[in-house]
Amino acid sequence: MAKMWAGRTAGHVDQGADDFNSSIRFDWRLYQQDITGSMAHAAMLGARHIITPAEADTLIAGLESILHDLESGALAVDFSCEDIHMFVEQELTSRLGDVGKKLHTARSRNDQVALDMRLYLRDEVSEIMALTESVIAAIVGQAEANQDVIMPGYTHLQRAQPILFAHHLLAYAMMLLRDVDRLKDCRKRMNVSPIGCCALAGTTYNTDRYMESKTLGFDGIALNSIDGVSDRDFCVETMSAIAMLMMHLSRFSEELILWSSWEFQFIELSDAYTTGSSIMPQKKNPDMAELVRGKTGRVYGDLMALLTSLKGLPLAYNKDMQEDKECTFDAVDTVKMCLQVFAPMIATMKPLPDNMKKAAQTGFINATDLADYLVRKGLPFRSAYKISGEIVAKCIADGCVLETLPLADYRSFIPLFDEGLYEAIDLNTCVQKRISVGGTSPESVKAQLKYVKNVCKGE
Ligand code: ARG
Repeated sequence: MAKMWAGRTAGHVDQGADDFNSSIRFDWRLYQQDITGSMAHAAMLGARHIITPAEADTLIAGLESILHDLESGALAVDFSCEDIHMFVEQELTSRLGDVGKKLHTARSRNDQVALDMRLYLRDEVSEIMALTESVIAAIVGQAEANQDVIMPGYTHLQRAQPILFAHHLLAYAMMLLRDVDRLKDCRKRMNVSPIGCCALAGTTYNTDRYMESKTLGFDGIALNSIDGVSDRDFCVETMSAIAMLMMHLSRFSEELILWSSWEFQFIELSDAYTTGSSIMPQKKNPDMAELVRGKTGRVYGDLMALLTSLKGLPLAYNKDMQEDKECTFDAVDTVKMCLQVFAPMIATMKPLPDNMKKAAQTGFINATDLADYLVRKGLPFRSAYKISGEIVAKCIADGCVLETLPLADYRSFIPLFDEGLYEAIDLNTCVQKRISVGGTSPESVKAQLKYVKNVCKGE
């Protein structure tokens, strides 16, 4: 069949070239956005008497029936069409005859596709924001339920200082809150209507771009028609925010994987979010967390793909831009899948406080507090630091820990030590004393919890 754009050429494209060129196999999923945009366009054409109001009504009813039939399954997408825009127009014309051919007045596929992508992505972004908030809620739930659990905090993956488990979890909540904020920003900037930009230069018809923009729930219109059809920065920006969100999920996943290993045993993941091995009967593998970590690479790839496709494109539309879809869809689908599995995985994980505590009791993670004790006795910090280090070395040589080294040994380093040192280096004291804002004391962590909950509530 000749193409709808047959005219200058006969519209017969080599079959292989046609398959290569067509995007319907992936852009069919924009049918709802495409039809919604076309309805707004038809209404505007009617209101401006570019077509008669009766014709506009006919077009809108025809578009409604196509949407209805697609949704009910009565109509199947014709995958021999070039893209979803051509399919809808072809179907409309076959249903309405010549009136159908009026829909594309004062419009181009260039502004149409830019519109569809914005309509699609702004809804998806809202959904991703809500899903991210459900992960934050799961984190908050765990932090709230385990407020007194102490674990070793790490730097360089070496035990560093005692912290509250809730404090560690809330670090991720803070990161995810920023991700939500970034997505909100993306949504704001993308919510600008490109429809009416037409091919690139605008149109000779007396259109009303503000009317279309309002009907479609946009905050404003693209003020430069060339920009409106050429730009895909809203996709790049969103993918970049998604990539960052995935980075956070990936770091968290890595910790869940470590924590659920025999070596750590800080948490146990629910059976529902682990798998077994086909050969080793004892295995309980954290596949979901591993997949989230793995899929992060793929989302980075999606972002890179689009950035690279757009680089060096002259204005305005180029067919290269059709490449925006698969990577954007993939990044969106992937992050949604990850978030959907992540929230319940966090909500159902079981912390193992005794093991965390045990790990916190070795590794000399209260050595900083020993130094701080000497500072309170009047020693400059750097001197206190040195003595504390020497005491740690002695403990290692003697095979004991700071808590069990006799007072006489402490005093042999410096007579400033008294019985009170044992209280000062007790893990509970170490945690409770870190009252600085944002610190690990129960009081500070409670304030962080409150902050996260308030932000989620929109306060
Ligand atoms: N399928 C195309 C895309 O996704 C639609 C726009 C086509 N425009 C054009 N001038 N060929 O980008």
